[in-house]
Amino acid sequence: MSDPIMENVSSRRTILTTGAAGLALAATGCSVYGKADPADDGEVADKVIGKAADVPVGGSKVFPEAKVIVSQPTAGRYVAFSAVCTHQGCTVNKIEGAEAVCPCHGSKFKVADGTVAGGPASSPLPSATVELRGDDLVLVK
Ligand code: FES
Repeated sequence: MSDPIMENVSSRRTILTTGAAGLALAATGCSVYGKADPADDGEVADKVIGKAADVPVGGSKVFPEAKVIVSQPTAGRYVAFSAVCTHQGCTVNKIEGAEAVCPCHGSKFKVADGTVAGGPASSPLPSATVELRGDDLVLVK
């Protein structure tokens, strides 16, 4: 005769083991097949990130889906930076004047050149390349 309590424990162990194995497989799958977002893996694929009109002259805008900050210091000249914070990887999501602000721990970066304006981050945002194609801003890989 079986013990219902022990059967329950055994079932939970099986589920936990399967869950851990599933996570391991998922992690493995991500490393092998993880190419769903070309912005993250360096594949050669240009990507429209938004409209140029969304970036004011003398201002900046965060494009959170592309994880890019674009500034237009003078009419028609665009500079771009990764919006991935160099502190711990959150997406910098807010522009305050001439600075981009990370929501996680408050690091600030100058939108003109990506350099650190306030920690805890100590490294600048990496530059990115955007091109104006028609009315669109295109992130160039
Ligand atoms: S992750 Fe941006 S300040 Fe910590």
